[in-house]
Amino acid sequence: MKSSSTSESTACVEEHMKEKGSHPSADAPHVRLVIALEPLLVVFSIVVDLVKVVLLGVPLLCREIYSIFVPRPEKNVRGQVALITGGGNGLGRAMAQLLAARGCNLVLVDIDLQAAERTADEIKQQYGVAARAYRVDVSQYEQCRELGEQIERDGAGPVDILINNAGLIMFAFLTNSDVDRTNSVMDVNIKSHVWMTKVFLDGMIKRKRGHIIGISSMSGMYAFPWAVVYSATKFAVSGFMASLNEQLRIQGLSKSVRTTCVNPYYVTTRKDVIEFLQKPRFPPLTVDNAAQEIVKGILRQDIVVTVPRLFGVFTRFML
Ligand SMILES: NC(=O)c1ccc[n+]([C@@H]2O[C@H](COP(=O)([O-])OP(=O)(O)OC[C@H]3O[C@@H](n4cnc5c(N)ncnc54)[C@H](O)[C@@H]3O)[C@@H](O)[C@H]2O)c1
Repeated sequence: MKSSSTSESTACVEEHMKEKGSHPSADAPHVRLVIALEPLLVVFSIVVDLVKVVLLGVPLLCREIYSIFVPRPEKNVRGQVALITGGGNGLGRAMAQLLAARGCNLVLVDIDLQAAERTADEIKQQYGVAARAYRVDVSQYEQCRELGEQIERDGAGPVDILINNAGLIMFAFLTNSDVDRTNSVMDVNIKSHVWMTKVFLDGMIKRKRGHIIGISSMSGMYAFPWAVVYSATKFAVSGFMASLNEQLRIQGLSKSVRTTCVNPYYVTTRKDVIEFLQKPRFPPLTVDNAAQEIVKGILRQDIVVTVPRLFGVFTRFML
């Protein structure tokens, strides 16, 4: 919408040009020159783009390939505390076991308390580390805040590693998506990352030690039309993690509080994922393989972890 003063001044200029007869015509020499130069400008911009790809893309690609063969050393998490949301089932449960095997204590947070308790019991028996389970709806700020206080009262913290993993999947075109389910998907997949990080980040900053991990998805990197809202929430998670990482950098905290955003391809955790994957372009990942790759990426403290890793190399060129 134009403001009245803008349209008045535009009218004035037009009037003035009419009086002076100064409308540029296609025959004017400078207009002909611009038209003649246009193809050259197009070629020039293509050359600039190519140079950019070579100067920026190739070193990144080489670094990515080099890091596959010579990975960064993994950090030691023995005696630290990792909190995993959605830690009762699927990827959350598998990551909990891998971290426990490295001597890390666990806080498992899930809306499904039974599953979280079962996982905590298995971990304690198998690995001899401390593991506690809490029932929390991580999409609700108040519940996340109370969890922070409860962990402090129980002496289960402080939390060194926060893995925001809880998420809901919804395979649907937007036109077919149920409103209540859509609301839940948006609440759980986005708000839980914001609320849990808000609750635990301050302590990490004060202790100058922390690591926040957001489980996004490959559909947070590429548009995924079979699950429009889910894909949108995962783009939001990736944006949140990138912005958080940047916040910590400009605050001079990026060495003490790390962030990792994880983008897995399909993992055979859930019935609806398995049913959806009748003809996947690439075979889906098993829960164990995916969790192993994710935990390795977390321990290397990579800022972005793509699973499988090779997909990350291709994305350097495609995004
Ligand atoms: N499975 C895949 O193909 C795949 C691919 C890419 C990314 N991911 C992401 O990985 C994460 C884990 O997925 P998964 O396949 O293991 O799912 P899952 O359903 O097996 O496990 C999710 C866990 O989150 C819990 N949860 C759900 N809502 C909650 C809430 N409001 N509060 C607390 N806990 C809640 C569930 O009870 C469950 O234990 C999700 O964020 C998902 O989007 C999964």
